[in-house]
Parts: sequence; C-alpha cells; structure tokens
Amino acid sequence: MATLVGTFFHSHGGSTSMPPDLWREQRLRRPIRDDVPIEDDEANAEKAARTHEGFRVLREKVAELEADVLVVFSDDQQECFDFNNFPGFAIFVGERFTKSTRRRGGPDARQAGRHAELGFAFNGHPELATALLTGVMKRGFDPAFCMDMPKPDRGLASGVIRTAEELTDFSLPIVPVMMNLYFAPQVTGIRSYQFGRAVREAIDEMPGGLRVGVVASGGLWHTPGMPGAWLNKEFDHRTLECLKVGDARGMAEHFDSYVIPAGDTSQDTGRRARNVTGMPSLGGPALGTRETCAWIAAAAVTEGRPTTIVDYVDVYASPVGNAFAYCDQP
Ligand SMILES: [Fe+2]
Repeated sequence: MATLVGTFFHSHGGSTSMPPDLWREQRLRRPIRDDVPIEDDEANAEKAARTHEGFRVLREKVAELEADVLVVFSDDQQECFDFNNFPGFAIFVGERFTKSTRRRGGPDARQAGRHAELGFAFNGHPELATALLTGVMKRGFDPAFCMDMPKPDRGLASGVIRTAEELTDFSLPIVPVMMNLYFAPQVTGIRSYQFGRAVREAIDEMPGGLRVGVVASGGLWHTPGMPGAWLNKEFDHRTLECLKVGDARGMAEHFDSYVIPAGDTSQDTGRRARNVTGMPSLGGPALGTRETCAWIAAAAVTEGRPTTIVDYVDVYASPVGNAFAYCDQP
C-alpha cells in the first residue's frame, strides 16, 4: 500500500516572489481600500523573511518525511485552460510538465525566493496520477485529465510550479491537480472536502510502497487587482483554527457560509472582464480567496489529525494572508 507521509499547506501569490522593497510601491499603485495599512520597507522585509522561512520549514519537512512524490492541489489561472473550456477538477497524468517561458513582470524582473529557469521541466508521476484519477472516479468524481500542456509557452499552473520550486529539489515527482478556484462559479468548500476524502481513499488503496505527500498551494484571503481590495484576517484565522485541530469539514462549512457584504467591490464577479467570467460565485468568498479550497481538500486528506500552523503573515501589498502549515501525523 502507498503511504501518506503528510500534508503541507502554503500560499503562492505574488508577494512570495516579489522582493519586499517593491511591496510599498505596489500597495500605493493598486486600487486597495483606504484603511489597509501602508507599511515601510523594514516591516515588509520582516514579513518577506517570515514568508520565506515558512517555505523553508515545509521544504525541510518534505525531505525529513522522505516523500517520493507530492500531489499538489492548486488552480489553473489560464495557463492550460481558458474560458473556451474550464474544468472544475483536472489531473495531470503526463511524464513531465514545464514552467512558463515568460517571466512575470518582464524578462528582467527581480525575484525573491527559489525559482527554476524559465521553461524548466519538472517530473510528473503518471502511475500515481492515473491511480488518483481512477480512484476518485470510483468515488463519484469525473475530473478532466491532461497528458500535455496546450499552451507550451504558458507551461503548467504557476501555483503548482511554485510548490515544485519552494518545497522540492526540482527533481521530486509531482502530480498536479488543478481545481477551478478562481473563475466563478468555482468549486465549493464542501465539494473540495469530499474530493480530498476521495483522494485519501485512492492513496490508501494504491498498491506498492510509494510515500506520498499532499500539498495545498494557494490562498489565503486575496483579491488581487480588484478595486477596494482588503484583508479579512478574521476569516483566515477561523480557517486556521479549524485546520489546527484537523476539522476539515469545519473549514468547508466556514468557507461556504461566508456571505459577501453588499457593496464589497473587491469580490464583485458580476461583470465580465479579462479575468472575470461575469457569472455568479456560489456561497463563500470569491476570486483568489477561493484557493482556500485547496487547503480544505488537503485538510480532508488528513482529517482529524493535528496540524502545525507555521505562520500567518498579513501582507498589505496585494493584500494577502500568506500562510504555512503541515501535518506530519497522517
Ligand atoms: Fe493563486
């Protein structure tokens, strides 16, 4: 039987890659709500250091637990899919997948953190990917599957690439699982919970001695680029309280029961735009905050088990709650 070695949770947004001396400028440039703090370079540098320390703790944990492969729950942000055809769940079953050949912010943009070369090829794991695909199909899910990337210059979902870059030595095989967590109507918290449970059962029934880690990449609260963006720390703290005690279902209920306040322009998905479908979101926060559902799915994999919250860093450049956690008692 395959062995689950643990679950790992991390944010992946722009501030995990952007040098902190650029954060203040971003805060001032973006249409962020007036009451969101404007922090100085010193405060931002301290928060960037905590963010990269969060990655380091997770990277060492993955190595210590001797994972042979990571399953990564994250989202496609039009790297592979677009509004011609956007699946709720998709599993990459191919041998290799690549990073985009284009650098965000232009070819000379400075970057913080660990980054592979543009176009770098990471290893997939077709055997585990196929076992997960068929395993969840036996349990009521019908994900799309991908054997290759339709837009080679865009590569695979950057959320998955960020896990590969920050949590691995760049050679550890990865099974990318793309959930629609950005474009309304996205998958719900409870559906993500159920998916995570199905993945756990599929891992448990896989023959052989593979040591599997499961990662959530994304979140927590963020609505990048939206007018009136703000940071709902209370919402994130409740999510983390549930995660800490292994209450994955509680995370889903907390997520799905959130009601977007009237007049909150930062979560308005009602008007069609470049990154907005114009269709309504189901219950729960909209836009990037929905990536919290990747955390819910991974938490469901280790439901009932205590989880270590490494850090929660409130960054106001976007703004975003950058968080890090792991469960090593699966
Ligand atoms: Fe994201």
